[in-house]
Amino acid sequence: MDKAWFDTAQYLIGGRWLDAGAHLPVVNPSTGETMGQIVHCGALQVDAAVAAAQSALSGEWGAMTAAERGRVLTRIGVLVAQRAEELAQLEALDVGKPLRQARADAIALARYCEFYGGAADKLMGETIPYQNGYTVYTLREPHGVTGHIIPWNYPMQIIGRSVGAALAMGNAAVLKPAEDASLTALAFGRIAVDAGLPPGALNIVPGLGAEAGAALSAHPGVRHLSFTGSVGVGRLIQQTAAQNIVPVTLELGGKSPQIVFDDADLDRALPFLVNAGVQNAGQTCSAASRILVQRGVYDAVVARMAEAYGALRVGPAVDDYDVGPLISARQRKVVTGYLERGGDLTVAARGRVVDGAAEGGFYVPPTLLIGARPDHPLAQEEIFGPVQVVIPFDDETEAVQIANGTDYGLVAGVWTENGGRAMRLARAVRSGQVFLNNYGAGGGVELPFGGSGLSGHGREKGFEALYGFSVLKTVAAWHG
Ligand code: NAI
Ligand code: MG
Repeated sequence: MDKAWFDTAQYLIGGRWLDAGAHLPVVNPSTGETMGQIVHCGALQVDAAVAAAQSALSGEWGAMTAAERGRVLTRIGVLVAQRAEELAQLEALDVGKPLRQARADAIALARYCEFYGGAADKLMGETIPYQNGYTVYTLREPHGVTGHIIPWNYPMQIIGRSVGAALAMGNAAVLKPAEDASLTALAFGRIAVDAGLPPGALNIVPGLGAEAGAALSAHPGVRHLSFTGSVGVGRLIQQTAAQNIVPVTLELGGKSPQIVFDDADLDRALPFLVNAGVQNAGQTCSAASRILVQRGVYDAVVARMAEAYGALRVGPAVDDYDVGPLISARQRKVVTGYLERGGDLTVAARGRVVDGAAEGGFYVPPTLLIGARPDHPLAQEEIFGPVQVVIPFDDETEAVQIANGTDYGLVAGVWTENGGRAMRLARAVRSGQVFLNNYGAGGGVELPFGGSGLSGHGREKGFEALYGFSVLKTVAAWHG
């Protein structure tokens, strides 16, 4: 792998880079070829990582003031921004993300470090009026060691929102990146060490979920767990957290709708409708995989989306086509399996895989489907591929019914020029975020994010994340 500027087959514990002996392949999804290796950590390395994090808390890292922590995070952000292009190249190779999207992720990571660097010394407690003779106040303290288990779809963004906020609050983090995409996590570790992050504040243990991930989530030394990934593993994590009585933040994806009313500004809406389905080849927790359209503009929206789909080109990530490959052969099988289950639906349009794209790459042409009833499996289940279904509705009541008619509730978009309706929908839709006449808002580092229902619970991003990554202590002093 000529693009990596470091030894990818090492893990980070207590500021030292080590080799565990066991390895996992690094696969390039654009070609299907193995291009390197990462270490495969197990319970032993996870144990050592948690111990290193504990010593960081009682050492240099734990002694830092909030302002000093903020300064280190800010420095990490500056270095990430300086190396954004190298990080993007690495991510394009490892995840199959078109370069433009990989660059946006690298910039978002820098921005998270900047945001949480600036926020570190700005979370304050309260003084509470109480009985005469008392002064009562609250302190925001770190949980201690935090465990971060992240997926392969947006490694840099999720490291930023999760590890960034945890470090800002003075926790010591143990990060388990996804086995399919660990390179930028390891690169981030290099950068953090270069920026002067004290040893043990961040430890990185790549490995398989069932081994490194399971060991981390079950470790009694871990006092908070943050997980992004599948509903099934989210359930397991919440169960292991129950054993140790620790809080969990779960971000488990969704089946997010964009709702288009007859009076919507279609010129503005169109790129958002399509992009939110095919960005990152649809492997996005907040993908708008359902487009609900009022009947008056249904034909027009389908026609315009179909035209956009017809122009989509799918190809190798480093060549920066509109859409790249999926992450793995396994994910491709999941997505093509869904397309087979949707055999009763009508294909309104498909994108095209470019000539010359490697046979072994995990490509799936983006597919726009119509004719699905709201209860069709493809309108209910998270597909996690470049597939969108368009569903008509008659009025506001039906729109809300369909929007809320899945087990998920992560993000929703509403397109209407009627301000009152927009405000009503914003309240009526069950969803962690609602975008009115926009969608996704470019990453939204500042915007609290999380789900309800099967989409999970807890909030990351924005200032809100700092409450989740800290614990409140009430101090009651009697002084007469
Ligand atoms: P996954 O949930 O298995 O993987 C996510 C992370 O959890 C990885 O780091 C993995 O190593 C770890 N993990 C796996 N098993 C574990 C265990 N027993 N204990 C602790 N950690 C464990 O997701 P996967 O299999 O990669 O994707 C399957 C589906 O999950 C996708 O098709 C998609 O529907 C959903 N997904 C949702 C994501 C989101 O952003 N919410 C991200 C990735 C996947
Ligand atoms: Mg890979």
